[in-house]
Amino acid sequence: MSSPEAPGSEWWRTAVIYQIYPRSFADRSGDGIGDLPGVTSRLNDLSALGVDAIWLSPFQRSPQKDAGYDVSDYCDVDPIFGTLADFDEMLAQAHARGIRVIVDLVPNHSSDQHVWFRNALAAAPGSPERARYIFRDGKGPQGEEPPNNWESVFGGPAWTRVTEADGTPGQWYLHLFDTSQPDFDWTNDEVRQEFRRILRFWLDRGVDGFRVDVAHGLVKKEGLPDYTPPTDAGSMGGGETAVPYWGQDGVHEIYRDWHELLAEYDGDRALCAEAWLPSVAQTALWVRPDEMHQAFNFEYLETPWDAQKLRLVIADSLAGFGAVGAPSTWVLSNHDVVRHASRLALTVENPQGYGIGPRTPGKPDPVVGLRRARAATTLMLALPGSAYLYQGEELGLPEVIDLPDSARQDPTWFRTHGERYGRDGCRVPLPWTADGPSYGFNDTGESWLPQPTQWAAFARDVQRDDPDSTLTLYKTLLAERRARGLGAGQLEWIDSLPEHVVAFRNGSITVVANVGTEPVPLPGGTVVVSSGPVASGILSPDQTVWLAGD
Ligand code: GLC
Repeated sequence: MSSPEAPGSEWWRTAVIYQIYPRSFADRSGDGIGDLPGVTSRLNDLSALGVDAIWLSPFQRSPQKDAGYDVSDYCDVDPIFGTLADFDEMLAQAHARGIRVIVDLVPNHSSDQHVWFRNALAAAPGSPERARYIFRDGKGPQGEEPPNNWESVFGGPAWTRVTEADGTPGQWYLHLFDTSQPDFDWTNDEVRQEFRRILRFWLDRGVDGFRVDVAHGLVKKEGLPDYTPPTDAGSMGGGETAVPYWGQDGVHEIYRDWHELLAEYDGDRALCAEAWLPSVAQTALWVRPDEMHQAFNFEYLETPWDAQKLRLVIADSLAGFGAVGAPSTWVLSNHDVVRHASRLALTVENPQGYGIGPRTPGKPDPVVGLRRARAATTLMLALPGSAYLYQGEELGLPEVIDLPDSARQDPTWFRTHGERYGRDGCRVPLPWTADGPSYGFNDTGESWLPQPTQWAAFARDVQRDDPDSTLTLYKTLLAERRARGLGAGQLEWIDSLPEHVVAFRNGSITVVANVGTEPVPLPGGTVVVSSGPVASGILSPDQTVWLAGD
């Protein structure tokens, strides 16, 4: 059944969606890894924050070689996170509070412990079992060289050679990520059928949609030609040139099929693409009317704190997504990037996925970082469309830079032999309370990544009643955004302010962001919310304000 609502009024067009990274959110079992009962226990805090939906990073069965993005059973919950019954309870409790639930779907690759891959290894070259993945003979007289020169996103070669059942060195399989994440062959109809089944499994349980992992990578260019990425490319992007494993035309047919499948269900179920592409115009191809519903706006996330660049990316996003009838999305942080309270104060280029650590040059100033993060979020949440928040940003959490080497877990760290720190610094378990073991993450003090001693100052309980806290800022922004219908609004630029100011109207509010280094006089109006103190009509650098009336 399709939705009885008028086209254009679907919830996902304007929703604020909060990303939960389950292993670091809240831990009821006390083993140091967050879990689904932990999520359920904290839903009231998310209601109080005022989000419309949550997206959960993978909690499905997995050996956890890439924190759950290596799935061994797509239709079960990993015991470290709980059970399917815990999932159902969490979903029911979220729905009871009017919070929609999106789950992560990882279709580009499975875990090497998935039964299909284990069967593939046991079967012979050329068998139907191998045809579900991308196995090829190696180059060289003995097949001792990989089939092509592709590199893994996490560093090192994208191919691993297997040992055949008779003990001889055998074929190679493709893994764009870790060795433990073999890529599926999406030209194989069995793979397509299996993912239809997986989609239905979760839709039947009542999920409101899927965040689709690596949605630009499923189809590889025929012949798997060699490709060398530019050295300055972020791990997931690939720069301006055509990349034989990203953004191939064939992926769109898959999403058209899924679109139809979702449309059989009521309630405007949605698909959101994680697709890292060089421009908004290209990303918009993922959200044409018969494909996915949303795509992450990584172009926006990657825009530095620069007024001209911000104006440009906002205008491009509204035009680019608007041209295909999709809402723009906005996002500043997630589990793969340096938290924006640190990233916006970096003084040295830091490509996506590299991370920051004790030896990184140009370390961010935490005061500048938090000030800019608050200003950037105040700007973002005034924009029409749908916005994504990443757990902990509402507390103003910075990236954890000084994790000891021995604690790091991201495969990037191991595959680059410590050259790239990777993403652990944005994944440290959340502080809920200033006191108590592990700052309220659990009762035992266990934590899969060590929490820094500064965490107490960021704890939710100390921020809850503080009118100046980042948590209070987020709550106010979300409440005003909802009350004023900003998600469904229209942006109208204001050009009369200095170059270093980003200013626009959306419905009843005027938004002014001072992205420069000089103070600016504010236009008339009453302050509805501001990212920092506003004194006598002057907006300081790195501050954003919403004004009403004039
Ligand atoms: C996506 C996920 C990331 C994961 C990768 C491989 O980019 O967001 O965390 O490592 O895909 O699945």
